[in-house]
Order: sequence, then C-alpha cells, then structure tokens
Amino acid sequence: MALAKLTMAALALASGFESVLAQNCSSVHIIVARASTEPAGTGIIGLVAKQVQDQVSGVDIVPVVYPATLENYVNSQTAGVTAMTKMVTDYATNCPNSKIVLMGYSQGAHVSVDVACGATEAGFPATQALPQAVLDKVVAIAVMGDPSFAPGQSFDVGNATVGGIFKRANVATTCAPVAAKMKSFCDSGDKYCDNGQGKDAVAIHIGYVQEYGKNATDFVVSQLKKASATQTSTTIQTSSATQTSSATQTPVPVATSAATGRSRMFSAAALVSSLMSIMLLAL
Ligand SMILES: *[C@@H]1O[C@H](CO)[C@@H](O)[C@H](O)[C@H]1NC(C)=O
Ligand SMILES: *[C@@H]1O[C@H](CO)[C@@H](O)[C@H](O)[C@H]1NC(C)=O
Ligand SMILES: *[C@@H]1O[C@H](CO)[C@@H](O)[C@H](O)[C@H]1NC(C)=O
Repeated sequence: MALAKLTMAALALASGFESVLAQNCSSVHIIVARASTEPAGTGIIGLVAKQVQDQVSGVDIVPVVYPATLENYVNSQTAGVTAMTKMVTDYATNCPNSKIVLMGYSQGAHVSVDVACGATEAGFPATQALPQAVLDKVVAIAVMGDPSFAPGQSFDVGNATVGGIFKRANVATTCAPVAAKMKSFCDSGDKYCDNGQGKDAVAIHIGYVQEYGKNATDFVVSQLKKASATQTSTTIQTSSATQTSSATQTPVPVATSAATGRSRMFSAAALVSSLMSIMLLAL
C-alpha cells in the first residue's frame, strides 16, 4: 500500500519532469564555453551565438559552467569537458528532436573539441568522444583559438601552420566523425593555437570574432538549415528511462534580412567589453 503510493508519486513526478523538459526543448540549443579568464557567461564567442539566434528562430543559448582559469589550466579544462559532456548528453536525451550547437573560444574551444573528439593531448586525462547517438544531435561546432589546434585538418580555417601549445594527437582519426560539421579558426602567430612568440601573438588570439565572426555565423546557420532539411527523429536511450517524446520537429526558419556585413554584426563597440575581459589573457 505504502509502496504503491510511493510508486505512484514517483511516476507522477517522473512524468511531470518529462513533460516540463519536453515543453522546454528549443529547436536549437547552443552550448557555449568561454575563454580563460572571461567572467562567467558565454564570453566573446557568445556574440556569434547571438548572431545565430537573431537569424534563426527557436534558439536558446547556455554557457558551460566551469572555472575557465589559466591557473590550474588542466583542472579547469577537465572540469569544462565534464560539464559540457553532461550538458550535451542530458539535452540530447531529454530533447531528442532538438539540434545542438557547440561553440568555444580558447580554453572553451579546447573543451569543445575534447567533448566532440575525445582528449588526446599530452598532459590531459584521455577521454572518449561523445557517443555517436549523442553526436548525431550536434549539427555544428565552431571553435576559435583552440590551444589543442592541429594544423592541416579539413575543418581548419585560417593560416596557422604550427599547432597549439597543447597540440592534439591523432586528430584526423578522432575528429573524423565530426569533421564535416566543425570549423576551427586559428591564424598564424597566435600565442595559444599556433604557439606564436611575436609581440602580436595575443592580439591575433583575441581577434577571431571580429575576423571570422560572420564566417562562423554563416557556417552554423547553414548547418542548421541543412539539418532541418534532412531531419530524422531518433531517440536516445538511457539506462534509467526511455524518452518517448513524439513531438515533431519544426523546420528552422531563417530570417531573410540576415545579410549583414561583418562590420555591423561585430562592431567595434559591441566587442569592447568582451575584449576588455579577454585581454586579461595577455597578463
Ligand atoms: C527553459 O529553458 C530556458 C532557456 O534555456 C531556461 O532559462 C529555463 O530555466 C528553462 N525552464 C525550465 C522549466 O527548465
Ligand atoms: C594570416 O591571416 C590573417 C587574417 O586574414 C592575416 O592578417 C595574416 O597576415 C596572415 N598571416 C600570414 C603569415 O599569412
Ligand atoms: C569561411 O572561410 C573559409 C576559409 O577562408 C572559406 O572557405 C569559406 O567559404 C568561408 N565561409 C563563409 C560562410 O563565409
């Protein structure tokens, strides 16, 4: 009797949760990992996420909650990988019809690529990439200034040739499942993603949103459009529960007034406050 009551209550609670979650699923869920030393939130690359949100309906943006410190970098980065992995997995499980986008800048880029490809850098605990069923929900990954950058990959954008200070091993193999939906922006001489030593090494590192923000936005929007056109709704099963959401996916409408130039989208004024915080990287 008592047990039956308890079970009923548990079931009611469970179904309550499920409907709340199902109702709160966005068409597009952007998970953003900020750079080292940026204040909590989405940081400078959040401006790219915002541009995507302005061009595509049904987008929500959430930050990865992690330390993003330069001190104890390995601990901070590892905490970021754990946090982002859980966020992607939970969302993919609870919202199987949603599209997920990953973005990251600097340490946040390192976090994002570890989540997508698995960690293979010397000095970092090895991790597995997200399982394929979860990766299938991730339609775009845009990272800038990744310290684990390895040059010569199909998804690289920019003219970097050296590789990052924590250069990734076996990148072609480990990132193969996500190569077609990822862009990694890095230019020659960047202090972190290209091991640059020049006096402009930090300036190069913090310039990518201005330099490539429109390119990254266009890439993510095009990936979302492509995914909408070929949407197949699959369900991710977990050991504890099977999601039975039957909500049909609505296509992602793209605003027709989206054609704005880089100078307007990523104006100097809009960048100032973000740059102020990311400039701390120079210290
Ligand atoms: C629904 O999603 C929004 C955007 O991510 C979030 O702010 C809000 O807390 C969520 N609500 C619930 C009930 O989970
Ligand atoms: C790399 O590309 C950037 C951005 O387009 C440019 O400013 C820079 O001069 C290039 N560097 C080299 C070494 O070609
Ligand atoms: C982004 O930049 C890359 C490399 O310069 C270029 O091949 C690509 O066409 C650009 N994409 C967009 C959407 O501007």
